[in-house]
Amino acid sequence: MGGGGREHALCWRLAQSASVDRLYAAPGNAGIGELATLVPVAAGDIPGLVEFVERESIDLAVIGPEAPLVAGLVDEMEARGMLAFGPTREAARLEGSKAWARDLCERHGIPAPRSRTFEDVDAATAFLDELSPPYVVKADGLAGGKGVVVAADQDDARAALEASLVRRVFGDAGLRVLVEEHLRGYEVSAMALTDGKFVLPLALARDYKRAEDGDQGPNTGGMGAYSPVPATGSATERGIGSSILGRTVEALDAEGIRYRGVIYAGLMVTEEGPRVLEFNCRFGDPEAQVVLPRLVANLPELMLACLEGNLSHYKVRWTKEACVGVVVASRGYPGPVHAGEQISGLAEAASLPGVQVFHAGTAARDGKVVTSGGRVLTVTAMGKNHQDARARAYEACSRIAFDGMRYRGDIAAGPARGEA
Ligand code: AMP
Ligand code: GLY
Repeated sequence: MGGGGREHALCWRLAQSASVDRLYAAPGNAGIGELATLVPVAAGDIPGLVEFVERESIDLAVIGPEAPLVAGLVDEMEARGMLAFGPTREAARLEGSKAWARDLCERHGIPAPRSRTFEDVDAATAFLDELSPPYVVKADGLAGGKGVVVAADQDDARAALEASLVRRVFGDAGLRVLVEEHLRGYEVSAMALTDGKFVLPLALARDYKRAEDGDQGPNTGGMGAYSPVPATGSATERGIGSSILGRTVEALDAEGIRYRGVIYAGLMVTEEGPRVLEFNCRFGDPEAQVVLPRLVANLPELMLACLEGNLSHYKVRWTKEACVGVVVASRGYPGPVHAGEQISGLAEAASLPGVQVFHAGTAARDGKVVTSGGRVLTVTAMGKNHQDARARAYEACSRIAFDGMRYRGDIAAGPARGEA
């Protein structure tokens, strides 16, 4: 379920498994349509999704995006005896409420920045005096990756608070706001599969959140990614698996919440060690597009093991190769964009060595592929190292064209030079 680059990567891996006979995607996109039967049900239409899964006797439903998880799709499916990969509504609060997630960290000693939650602009502004600039202001609920502002000074922070609490630019999701200490370091995305007890960490990835080169411009859903992350040594990586992902699942379990599916921690690796910036209750996008191609395992079997509670019997391996993914977006993203532009060069790009083009905002129209959203594609490539994978991914991007096409030019430039 879903129709982004993450879901295309999921379908692509699922389709490679001998355990999968048939694949359906709701609603999918033009690329997914080459692997799966597209079902015209929106990812937010919970009754429609439940009815479809029941009617087709689907053996395993895999839910890509957060919104249906937070809204309780898995609960609805479980109540009808269907197998659905992803956390229940209660468990998905880890992503659905940043305030709730922060409180969980505090109760269980999971490393996170100093943070407080407010519903009132004046009280929140008063708290700024206890911190030093810049300030981080976050909407509590789901805001499509756009609810976080890093404010240079108190005036900017106040403006962000007013936008969320008074002008309600994020709707109900912004009626509570977190004000946080700003941490320095480098960011890394850590994901794991879990059956609620056992945690199987996936390879680390790095995501580029800002719209423009050099980490300038507004926050987006993600403009590119790479895996592995050479800057994070193996001791730190093991620590992330146990002290952050492992401890969080343990904390949920201790509070009577069974979390099954993918748990994702967005981390800042500081001089004092990794700190949780946010949790997500599903695969990252575009992280999935660079992590899944490196996974040597039978993905649907692992997903079933999460639901059956026997994930501890499984091991996974990772290819030594690096994977780099460049998000190709429409002009204007993350703001409003124009849709319906014809995309050329897709087949040529996909024929290059190591390249896999995952679709996001695309649709098929009269036998052609056209744009239908802000993030249009994730162009990925595997290579013997980051430099090689990066060169291949950008070569593939250069073969693709549509009106208003844009992408960052600096994805994986750091590790290709041997830096973070
Ligand atoms: P989030 O959605 O909470 O991950 O926030 C989006 C982005 O804002 C993160 O990827 C960081 O770049 C930045 N960010 C969020 N919280 C903090 C923080 N406490 N300190 C520094 N940067 C932050
Ligand atoms: N790339 C960040 C996310 O999936 O939330």
